[in-house]
Amino acid sequence: TKPSCEYQPGLEGIPVAQSSISFVDGKNGILEYRGINIEELAQKSTFLETAYLLIWGKLPTKDELANFQDEITRHRRVKYHIRDMMKCFPESGHPMDALQTSAAALGLFYSRRALAKEEYIRDAVVRLLAKIPTMVAAFAQMRMGNDPVQPSDNLNYAANFLYMLTEKEPEPLEARIFDVCLMLHAEHTMNASTFSAMVTASTLTDPYAVVASAVGTLAGPLHGGANEEVLVMLEEIGSVENVRPYIEDCIENKKKIMGFGHRVYKVKDPRAKILQQLAERLFELTGHDEYYDIALEVEKVVTEKLGHKGIYANVDFYSGLVYRKLGIKPDLFTPMFAISRVAGWLAHWKEQLAVNRIFRPTQVYIGDRGIPYVAIEDR
Ligand code: SDX
Repeated sequence: TKPSCEYQPGLEGIPVAQSSISFVDGKNGILEYRGINIEELAQKSTFLETAYLLIWGKLPTKDELANFQDEITRHRRVKYHIRDMMKCFPESGHPMDALQTSAAALGLFYSRRALAKEEYIRDAVVRLLAKIPTMVAAFAQMRMGNDPVQPSDNLNYAANFLYMLTEKEPEPLEARIFDVCLMLHAEHTMNASTFSAMVTASTLTDPYAVVASAVGTLAGPLHGGANEEVLVMLEEIGSVENVRPYIEDCIENKKKIMGFGHRVYKVKDPRAKILQQLAERLFELTGHDEYYDIALEVEKVVTEKLGHKGIYANVDFYSGLVYRKLGIKPDLFTPMFAISRVAGWLAHWKEQLAVNRIFRPTQVYIGDRGIPYVAIEDR
């Protein structure tokens, strides 16, 4: 088939879907979920209500939300077969690899193709939203030699995750701040992991395989993996005085600065602004963080040097500082992103099912043609 447009590396600027789930204005730093702006949701909503909004396209009534929350609470536990499988994972393994493997394994036990479509969608949405946090926390406990902490039946979504991870009930403010982080990371139009989810979904495979594909894509340092790399960078810099020479060296050697730049945002990511406010609220509760001073200086220097190229702080720059203060280890920062983005991936999975057209793009062939086969003796 004749290409309908020029080849664009990274599909930059190429629309691959029509979607009504979220909207980004990269020039003005605007993000909306189903038309509602992220600042208002961060203030007034919760992660589960936002997940419902993204997936079913409207804010739930009181009863709809209560039923949704109850169903998810009831499905938090994971079959012992999967926990036993996770016991064989090497402690040194990265939690994103553990999550990708265990997300795919959920399909072995829970894929319900026989269900009628709407029920099939709701069943998968509930089980994935309910069980992904349990598996992340279970791996984090097991690699320390502990038994997984059984999910609570009465803590809300965010508090339950922190409880399973740290074995202690979080302060209400800590749980609320984590819940807002989950809302901020839930959805972001055609990012790489969502596109990966859509391509996988377009073959009508099961939603557990869709999420496993997306987790593998999110893990990369150019995408969700950046939040963990930011902490590594702040530790490497070590002090406010070292920031300028460090950043100048990165730019000199064309080394990408983690937590900065974005394919769409050419101003500061609106989510970074909210995450900064959350970080500052946490510091009031738990004490100041010297890494925040370094981070502020990094943002100042990078904006000074690269702002003219439209390179500003993105969602990954401050998120790690919030997670660290919540007692979350750096290699669990990207799994936090994954727990949240399951909502967006499933919203696009559902939207893709309605399109029902397999992704099969074309290419510009630049290789040789008509080459004869040469016997190995003659090579
Ligand atoms: C997320 O898509 C999404 O929405 C993703 C996300 C979501 O919610 O799903 O928002 C989450 O992934 C945020 C991004 C996290 N990644 C990082 O922080 C890693 C560092 N960032 C870069 O790798 C980069 O900015 C990307 C990957 C985010 C965007 O890459 P693009 O759009 O392909 O840009 P590019 O690599 O073509 O760079 C354009 C120019 C280049 O300079 P020139 O060669 O033109 O001189 O900008 C420079 C780049 O060198 N540049 C950077 C830079 N990012 C781009 N220079 C230094 N540091 C950076 N971070």
